[in-house]
Amino acid sequence: MRPEERRQEVLRYLEQLLSPQRYHHSLEVGRLARELAGRFGVQKDEAELAGLWHDAAKEVPMAEQIAWAKGAGLDPDVIRHAPQVLHGPLAARRWEELFGKGPEDDLIMAAVAQHTTGAPGMGKVALAVFVADFLEEGHGTGGSPEAGEVKAANTLERAGFLVARAKLSYLSGHGRWIAPDLLFCYNDLWMRTAGEE
Ligand SMILES: [Fe+2]
Ligand SMILES: [Fe+2]
Repeated sequence: MRPEERRQEVLRYLEQLLSPQRYHHSLEVGRLARELAGRFGVQKDEAELAGLWHDAAKEVPMAEQIAWAKGAGLDPDVIRHAPQVLHGPLAARRWEELFGKGPEDDLIMAAVAQHTTGAPGMGKVALAVFVADFLEEGHGTGGSPEAGEVKAANTLERAGFLVARAKLSYLSGHGRWIAPDLLFCYNDLWMRTAGEE
């Protein structure tokens, strides 16, 4: 399927799956992810599709998300302490079921799965979506002081590091449990950007 046809199909699904507000957020994340991909020389179609799809499972009832996560063998600590991140891996699985899985789909599915917590060894498409989602969260993080620094970053890795750092400090500042993938993501990007400012 050509990227434009796929994009139209993705939009049709999203319109059914999401509230108007989250649909709008998804369109913006898709647009921003494409823009970041263009700026940093990354696959633009994959970044946009992953940005569009990233929250596709966010409005699935939590009990259903948890039941799926248990069945899929996800980390029991994450299921118990941070169920709000499960919609990423669930949306990645739904992508595979609905759109199949070619070589580019791996990039899309990883970006969708990793968009909330990040992960160690993130690829550039996943970083573009991770950063785009943070910037678009709009009223919250998009308008935060970190957002300006993220937008000004000279590499996608540096932007991703700043997003991981902001998420980590928000969660620890509020005494919340930290998903291991976010800690690993932070350390990995710290090493990949050592010396960058
Ligand atoms: Fe999300
Ligand atoms: Fe989102």
